[in-house]
Amino acid sequence: MINEFPKDFLWGAAVSAYQTEGGNTHCDWHEWEGKGHGKEPSGQACRHYELYEKDWDLAADLKLNSVRLSVEWSRIEPQEGQFDQKEIEHYVDVVRSLKKRGIEPLLTLHHFTNPLWLSKRGGWLHPRAPAYFRRFTEKIVPFLSPYVRYWATINEPNVYAYCGYVECKWPPQERSWIKAVMVQDNFMRGHVEAYRAIKKIYSVNKLPSPMVSLAQHLRGFLVSGSNPVHRLRARFNDYFFNFRFLDTVTQLKTMDYIGVNYYTCEFFPPLKKELPLNNLGWQIYPEGLFLLLLRLKRYKLPVMVLENGICTDDDKKRQEFIREHISSVKQAMLRGVNVTGYFYWSLIDNFEWEQGFGPRFGLIEVDYSTYQRRVRESALKYSEEICRNRPS
Ligand code: FCB
Repeated sequence: MINEFPKDFLWGAAVSAYQTEGGNTHCDWHEWEGKGHGKEPSGQACRHYELYEKDWDLAADLKLNSVRLSVEWSRIEPQEGQFDQKEIEHYVDVVRSLKKRGIEPLLTLHHFTNPLWLSKRGGWLHPRAPAYFRRFTEKIVPFLSPYVRYWATINEPNVYAYCGYVECKWPPQERSWIKAVMVQDNFMRGHVEAYRAIKKIYSVNKLPSPMVSLAQHLRGFLVSGSNPVHRLRARFNDYFFNFRFLDTVTQLKTMDYIGVNYYTCEFFPPLKKELPLNNLGWQIYPEGLFLLLLRLKRYKLPVMVLENGICTDDDKKRQEFIREHISSVKQAMLRGVNVTGYFYWSLIDNFEWEQGFGPRFGLIEVDYSTYQRRVRESALKYSEEICRNRPS
């Protein structure tokens, strides 16, 4: 049998700083929670800030060869222009301890949260936000570059803009399409600035060129009938939500691979037949991942699935979810898409933003009263799948 997955394929799981670390008090989300928003405050989250070694041990036991994680900007730069060296050292320790276990870190620089000083100035609406982001990038990358080869500058700029400026459910809870577009455009500038800064730092220090991208959330917008209005709506969403950002940053040659987060699809009109749902009511449709991956071929770049996961209390459903989505990846590869990595969301249960701790996405269960970890059966199945697909 031909093995479709190359030896250096990254088999991983993802986490983000704010959702797992706990004790992040210098950012906009913390302030927002303090005003009583969201289901519950993130508080100590999973105490991953102290327990990361334990979490990396579990990742190594599961035979993951990569972990996607993020740094918390507001820890590193709690006041404008003042960088906390202790916090930078913390993240150096975190990535080194992955490397020690033979796990390749994939590092995200911005995963939804902003330092308070930036949000007070209007966050990503501020014309200088991309420059602030570049300054932060230039500060920390020299410390991390000896250990990190894979970068994602920004996580899901489209989801950030939509939830914060259209749906009005995340800070800063505004309702303005114009602002949502402005925020996305500033993220594009921020990405371009950070991309160029990272590349330059590696080249000045004579390090092998890193792979830099961002994590774009792609949602399948699929037409289920022949009504031209439905077709138009699907196309409109597909362009503005999914592809406008990717088209621009690839045209600017600031993507070394395409990073994709995929969870769900929307049908126009809604399907009569019911699709299975996760605990947040998102439709599960593995074929959607296959269809979207095929459409990324035109960029002629490697592709990595940087997030894909399910929140459920039924671990059997998680096993099935992982198996089916990996099969979609495999099918896309057989059709010529150069997929080079797959990261399950998430390594451990965590704080799911405005939804609090209820939704359980983890391969590893977290008991929030004791912070104990318990490896789920689905994690073991994922591990078996990795071993099966890894050429020896
Ligand atoms: C993605 C986010 C991630 C997590 C998952 C469930 O949109 O990037 O932080 O919340 O959804």
